[in-house]
Amino acid sequence: MQSLTSQEIRQRRSDFWTSKQHVNLPEASLIADKESTALFNVAGMQPLIPYLAGKEHPLGHRLFNIQKCVRTVDIDEVGDSSHLTFFEMMGNWSLGDYFKQEAIQWSYEFLVEKLNFDPRKLAVTVFEGNEDAPRDEIAFEAWKKAGLPEERISFLDAKNNRWSPGPVGPCGPDTEIYYRVGESEFPPAGSNVKTDEDNWLEIWNNVFMEFYRDEKGELTKLSQHNVDTGMGFERMCKVMQNKESVYETDLFTPFLEMLEKNTRLSYVDNKRRFRIIADHLRTSFMLINDGLTPSNLGAGYVLRMIIRRAYYNLFLLKKFSQSELDLFVSKALESFKGLRDFDELTIKRVLLAEIAQFEKTLANGEKNLNDFLNKLEAQGEKVL
Ligand code: SER
Repeated sequence: MQSLTSQEIRQRRSDFWTSKQHVNLPEASLIADKESTALFNVAGMQPLIPYLAGKEHPLGHRLFNIQKCVRTVDIDEVGDSSHLTFFEMMGNWSLGDYFKQEAIQWSYEFLVEKLNFDPRKLAVTVFEGNEDAPRDEIAFEAWKKAGLPEERISFLDAKNNRWSPGPVGPCGPDTEIYYRVGESEFPPAGSNVKTDEDNWLEIWNNVFMEFYRDEKGELTKLSQHNVDTGMGFERMCKVMQNKESVYETDLFTPFLEMLEKNTRLSYVDNKRRFRIIADHLRTSFMLINDGLTPSNLGAGYVLRMIIRRAYYNLFLLKKFSQSELDLFVSKALESFKGLRDFDELTIKRVLLAEIAQFEKTLANGEKNLNDFLNKLEAQGEKVL
């Protein structure tokens, strides 16, 4: 497959959905509305919930965008090959407009014709049905019509092929698209997501939202059928650039190379720590850019912890002087500059103030510990 830069992927996607009469939806802030139970925007569809439920959207019935998202539930996994606290979700939506047939046809067309995916390396899953909704024969037929052979279409249960943003809200069966990542270039006969899950990587989810689940768990049909899709941008860059992890894509390499130069340490020998610093700094930049400041409450507290964890990991690699740190943050901002327009002055001010406060906490902690050890020694205790 031809390798594409992250910028080229953004552009091809934008051109494609525009050609299908979709309007570019301005992305929402990362900081969730006060009425929301979430702290951050966690999915591309989150700002669209009222419109999926039937409210008229001012931009029409066909939308697409790349929505910035923050999820911290898997923060301890950051440092492996795929987890990130900040990520971008590429979505397209039908709000009561097209449904399964077109959504599937266009998903296939975009991957195969616009991104040059080899169709022999694609597989999909569809909903096998339960008491809430029937087996999804329409999605199955649509995939066959688009060009996928039956043997690479798997029917899976509600755990895999139903999606909802939480216990309450719009929901429905989905169809997930997978790309071959196994050892042999092409899947052996009979390989699909059901028979050979480890050799397939999910790249895109199309949710057919036609239900609403209320607080009592009851399901009712929405007044309109919707399509809500999500494709992780970083994961797509990893696949299209044929990299081992999202961190080796062009989204992260400028930062990682800069970190190598400034610490004189190699990424390969310090992968986990380098990745945590890269992820957490990127997330901090984006959150501060959206107006958040560190505090001891809610989203501000999460930001505080993310900044401190980034700095602590950096500190373990190298102790920067104040002026070095200042310069390092400028270079870090520069290395992520393709992401969004950064308010560099504000980001630097907020980040460096938080680091200064953390350093005081660390110094106090060290002093308290030393006082305590000295006292024990004075009492005749053997401390070390
Ligand atoms: N909302 C679905 C998801 O996040 C599709 O975008 O997977």
